[in-house]
Amino acid sequence: MIFEQLFDCNSSTYTYIISSGKGREALIIDPVIEHTDKYIKVLENLELKLVKVIDTHIHADHVSGLNELNKRTNCTRIMGENSKSEVIDLKIKDSEKIEIENIKLKAIYTPGHTDCSYSYFMNDRVFTGDTLLINGIGRTDFQNGNSYDAYDSLFNRLLKLPDKTLVYPAHDYNGEKNSTIESEKNNNPRLQVSSKEEFAEIMDNLNLSNPKMMDIAVPANLKGLTLNQL
Ligand SMILES: [Fe+2]
Repeated sequence: MIFEQLFDCNSSTYTYIISSGKGREALIIDPVIEHTDKYIKVLENLELKLVKVIDTHIHADHVSGLNELNKRTNCTRIMGENSKSEVIDLKIKDSEKIEIENIKLKAIYTPGHTDCSYSYFMNDRVFTGDTLLINGIGRTDFQNGNSYDAYDSLFNRLLKLPDKTLVYPAHDYNGEKNSTIESEKNNNPRLQVSSKEEFAEIMDNLNLSNPKMMDIAVPANLKGLTLNQL
């Protein structure tokens, strides 16, 4: 399997390029628009054909590369069914499968950080977007986020996956690349709570400032802007 984890220093975003092998179909999760050329180069070097591209949710801290990649490769843009993006080609529902050659991802609806947040499970790993980070979780105070929904998504969906499942988040701010469900269960400070109410009390009182790119990134991602429209 080809599995490339690329990093955007400005927003600390992880992007994933996945394929079953050289010369085969590929998909990308959470691309950042400024790195489109780099993704295309990786695809070309491995003779991959990009067929699908997924955003785990509407990002507030960077402009998505979904639309620029679609413009250049004609790949299918995918998000969850309640995404408010105006340009998504395929909206998927909870438990639906996304397939490319020899690769299958299962969509898991995990609202809380936003109301359009999905995670994607693939064999031994799960792409958690901002729902579950390494030793942290995504904030729940904007973009129709909800701390009670986040609790359900974490405790009743993601933490029910097998303990050994690898966790690949959309961000990391400390240089960590992946984790496991077991490690997050035991060590993630946000998950060491005894009730939904305790969790919500913490999440609803973080008083975080907005991401600096928010006023640009959210409208651009909803409209599906490409590089020359920014
Ligand atoms: Fe986010």
